[in-house]
Amino acid sequence: MKLLILNGPNLNLLGTREPEIYGGVTFLDYFEELKAQFSSVELDYKQSNHEGDLVTEIQKSQGVYNGIVLNAAAYTHTSVAIGDAIKAVTTPVVEVHISNTFAREAFRHNSYISPNAKGVILGFGLKSYALAIQSFL
Ligand code: DQA
Repeated sequence: MKLLILNGPNLNLLGTREPEIYGGVTFLDYFEELKAQFSSVELDYKQSNHEGDLVTEIQKSQGVYNGIVLNAAAYTHTSVAIGDAIKAVTTPVVEVHISNTFAREAFRHNSYISPNAKGVILGFGLKSYALAIQSFL
């Protein structure tokens, strides 16, 4: 089982970014925990602040990964292109969010990812990623 964790804009700042919402742990530190927790899974991690990079990674996943754990961050709420990319490949995508986006501003309630995702996990802090990986096993 080979999975890609794909993070969108500003998630490279986890640990210092709005810690009251996103916590105080960097994603690279959490990624080490994930690799230890899911030692039987081949996990890759990529992050980009650029929409097109995320589209390209989703396109390239075809035939390479068994699934993508995708936190498209703010692009979740704006990106037709990322939604279309998910539709264009057979790689299953599980959408994750650290925060409960439905308990936040109204503009975070819409997702261009959800209609094309296998499932959605949100609101469990960084544990949302572990739950998403678990969903593939
Ligand atoms: C987020 C929620 C988004 O609304 C926000 O823009 C993010 C992070 C989350 O993981 O809770 O950057 O995707």
